Amino acid sequence: MNDRDLPRIVPLIDLRLSALPMPVTDHLPESRISGTGQLTDTLGRPLRDLRISVTDRCNFRCNYCMPKAIFDKDYAYLPHQALLSFEEITRVAKVFVAHGVQKIRLTGGEPLLRKNVELLVEQLAALRTPQGQALDITLTTNGSLLARKARELKAAGLQRVTVSLDGLDDTVFRSMNDVDFPVADVLAGIEAAQAAGLGPIKINMVVKRGTNEHEILPMARHFRGSGIVLRFIEYMDVGATNGWRMNEVLPSSEVVKLIHAELPLVQLEPSNPGETAARWGYADACGQHDKALGEIGVISSVTQAFCGSCNRARLSTEGKLFLCLFASKGYDLRSLIRGDASDADLSSAIGHIWQGRSDRYSELRSALAPDTGFGGRRVEMSYIGG
Ligand code: GTP
Ligand code: 5AD
Ligand code: SF4
Ligand code: SF4
Repeated sequence: MNDRDLPRIVPLIDLRLSALPMPVTDHLPESRISGTGQLTDTLGRPLRDLRISVTDRCNFRCNYCMPKAIFDKDYAYLPHQALLSFEEITRVAKVFVAHGVQKIRLTGGEPLLRKNVELLVEQLAALRTPQGQALDITLTTNGSLLARKARELKAAGLQRVTVSLDGLDDTVFRSMNDVDFPVADVLAGIEAAQAAGLGPIKINMVVKRGTNEHEILPMARHFRGSGIVLRFIEYMDVGATNGWRMNEVLPSSEVVKLIHAELPLVQLEPSNPGETAARWGYADACGQHDKALGEIGVISSVTQAFCGSCNRARLSTEGKLFLCLFASKGYDLRSLIRGDASDADLSSAIGHIWQGRSDRYSELRSALAPDTGFGGRRVEMSYIGG
C-alpha cells in the first residue's frame, strides 16, 4: 500500500452549534435596508444566487464529501425540528429575491431525500423578482432517485437539474459513491430528466487524480452531442474531513488539453456574470463551435479562483446563512424567523450581512498557500450544500 492509498480521514469538529453574531439592525429608519434588488457586498458583488440545502443526509458516501468513517451509523444528523420547514424556506427565499436573487438551487446532502421536496419547488416557483420575472429554479442531485421523481419535479415548476456523476465505468462509480450504487441507475435518472424536459441538464464530475482521471475521455465522448453539458470540477478542500491534498487535484487546464487532443475545443464566452464554469465548445472541421456537438465546462476553484464575481449565498439545512462555501460559521436566520422578526427585520438583517461580506476564500488560498489547504475549521459541504 503506498501513501496515496492510506485512509486520510480527519475527525470532524462540529461547527453546527456556533453562529456569527447578527449585525445590529436597530429600528432607526436610516439603518434599515429594504429589498431594492441592488444589494452589493464590500467588494461590489451583487447577490444573485441562493443555494438552499434541504437535508444534510445522503444515500451516497463519496469520500471527497461524506467519508464513511465520519458519516457512519453514529453520525448525528440534524433532527427534523431543526430543519427549516418549506414555509420557512419560502419566506426567507422571498426576502432574498427582493434583494436581487434570480436563481435558486436546491442542494443537500441529497435533496431528493427530503420528503415531498416537490411541494417546496412549487412554492418557490411562485416567487417573482422585483421586475416580475420567474426565478431560475434548479436542483443538484446524485441522480439515484431521479428516475422516480423527474416528472413530478417538472410538474411542480423545476426548470432543470444538475446531476453528479464521477465516471461511466461501473466499478469506478460504485467505488467512488462507496455504497456500491450502480451507474446504470444514475444514467436512467438522467434519461428520465431529459424526457421530462428538465434541461439544459448539466453533469458535474469531480476529478481526482489517481482515482477517476481515466474516466474523463469516456465521459466526454458519451455526452458530446447529447444536449447535456458535462462539467469537470477540480477536487476542492471543502469541508474538513476529506483529507484533501493538492497532489490529488488535476488542474482543469490538463482536462481541457486531454479532451482537445482527441475532440477539438474552442473557448466560449461566459453565459452569465459570476459563472463558476469556464465554457469550451466542441469545434467543427473549420475550428468553429459546432452547437450540435455542445460544450463542456471546467470549474477551477483551486487553480483559478473565481471569487471576484461570486454572487452566491448559501442557506444551510437549519437556516444559517453562509457567505462562502469555505466559511466556518454562518448567521442564524432561523432564530429570527422563529422569533418575532417581521419580513422587514429579516430583510434588513440579510441586507446588513451581505453588505458586510468580504469572503474570497479560494483567492486567498491560492495567494497564500498554493499547495496546501488552510486547515481544519470549515463546515461540511453536505450541510451547507454545493
Ligand atoms: P449553473 O447555473 O447550472 O451553471 O450552476 P453553477 O455553475 O452554480 O453550478 P453548480 O451549482 O452545479 O456548481 C458546480 C460546482 O462548482 C459545485 O458543485 C461546487 O463544486 C463548485 N462551486 C459552486 N459554487 C461555488 C463557489 O461559490 N465556490 C467554489 N469554490 N466552488 C463552487
Ligand atoms: N470537491 C469538488 N466538488 C465537490 N462536490 C462535493 N464535494 C466536493 C469536493 N471536495 C460536488 C459534488 C456535487 C456537488 C454538490 O458538489 O460532486 O456535484
Ligand atoms: Fe452525497 Fe453529493 Fe456528497 Fe456524494 S457529493 S456524498 S452524492 S452530497
Ligand atoms: Fe465564492 Fe467563497 Fe467560492 Fe470564492 S471560495 S467563489 S467567495 S464561495
